[in-house]
Amino acid sequence: VSEEQVEASAHAEPEPRVGRRQLLASIGAGGAGLALGAGGFAVGRERGLEARRPQPSLAGRSLDFFGYHQAGIATPAQDRLHFAAFDVVTERRSELRDLLRVWTRAAARMCVGDPAAPDRGNPLAPPADTGEAIGLPPARLTITFGFGPSLFGRPGSADRFGLAALRPPELDELPPLPGDELEPRRSGGDLAVQACADDQQVAFHAVRSLARIGRGVVVLRWSQLGFGRTSSTSRAQETPRNLMGFKDGTNNLKIEDQKLLGEHVWVGESAEPGWMRGGSYMVARRIRILIEVWDRAPLEDQEATIGRRKVSGAPLGAGTEFDAVDLDMKSGTGKPVVPDDAHIRLASPVSNSDAMLLRRGYSFTDGIDGRGQLDAGLFFICFQRDPRRQFVAIQRRLGAHDALNEYIRHTGSAVFAIPPGVSPGGYVGQGLLE
Ligand code: HEM
Repeated sequence: VSEEQVEASAHAEPEPRVGRRQLLASIGAGGAGLALGAGGFAVGRERGLEARRPQPSLAGRSLDFFGYHQAGIATPAQDRLHFAAFDVVTERRSELRDLLRVWTRAAARMCVGDPAAPDRGNPLAPPADTGEAIGLPPARLTITFGFGPSLFGRPGSADRFGLAALRPPELDELPPLPGDELEPRRSGGDLAVQACADDQQVAFHAVRSLARIGRGVVVLRWSQLGFGRTSSTSRAQETPRNLMGFKDGTNNLKIEDQKLLGEHVWVGESAEPGWMRGGSYMVARRIRILIEVWDRAPLEDQEATIGRRKVSGAPLGAGTEFDAVDLDMKSGTGKPVVPDDAHIRLASPVSNSDAMLLRRGYSFTDGIDGRGQLDAGLFFICFQRDPRRQFVAIQRRLGAHDALNEYIRHTGSAVFAIPPGVSPGGYVGQGLLE
């Protein structure tokens, strides 16, 4: 199966087909007109904006923005990331709703390689589009939107948008976890935008344009660039390497595992609240890798830390990358071949079949830390049905016992509800806001 075939089915509706009918019934058809005015955008209802077919050419292909699920989750991971978390600064629900409408239209346009808004042809006004992506291919851009717990009101503060009763129980703030060294300036947020593309400038243009459109309604809270995907999310992709030099994504959930995605990633057809059906939950963690310390560790220690061979990616005690991991195997001296504190042992779902994740992270480097050390690492992103049973359960084990802890620091954190995908004429989060 080629990567193109995988992409084509990635956001498709699961069987049975009743799902989309229910979704369409619950979100209605189309939004009313609006004039947001922010950042020079005055966008009326764009009746002409229909789902366009992805471009067939391989280089710079476009991916469907519209679909039952949002793109950017079960989409073979692109090479680049621009992630941004926003805070909503308006108190008006109608302004939040209008923003999501305009964001949806702009995102759909950018994903087919069009400017964020149609040109108004007025040389006396700022150009409708900022211009840096003109002439660049769509580069498989996906834009995935999420809602943070704080959008639904904080304990002890007013429920700004009247959404508290619609907050899914799965969208708890993440609890303090062992080993956390979180920086508030890299954590949280009311809204998330994950832009992934094969071209960094295309991903940047997406986030910049959405921030520009949102002026007066949202402010950027923090953002993160990523390069070199650290997970394969499809069997058609080769497993990439993270900055520790290890293959990352071997035992990831893969897009081809539709049944497992249904069990572990997508919110089910009978889940409550209903606006999340077909959605998912994202956890993002900025994990700094103490690269200089890691680089001084002997190869044997590095491999014992992960539980796999560095070059081949094979589990310790096995021959090749995709061989099954045997956690019960003992050496001649009776010691476990995959050590008790190895990352793959503690992260493994064997002891808890509920705890599988779709990992979709990226490497990052943010210059140096003031002491001459690289501030680089892994921007870990994962998708799941319930972060409490999945990410939190795994990270409790990892944070307490993982041999990797000697070499990493979790410096940023956020959790978001990822609403379902959008039909042409609808907008992201419509089920929540209407
Ligand atoms: C800098 C931090 C991290 C690094 C460098 C790292 C690296 C790796 C590597 C090299 C593998 C083996 C290849 C594979 O199966 O993908 C792996 C597996 C895995 N990691 Fe991580 N990881 C990190 C953080 C995390 C975190 C925070 C979680 C979740 C809380 C996590 C969950 C997993 C899971 C579920 C597996 C698959 C285990 C299995 O079933 O075999 N990792 N990781």
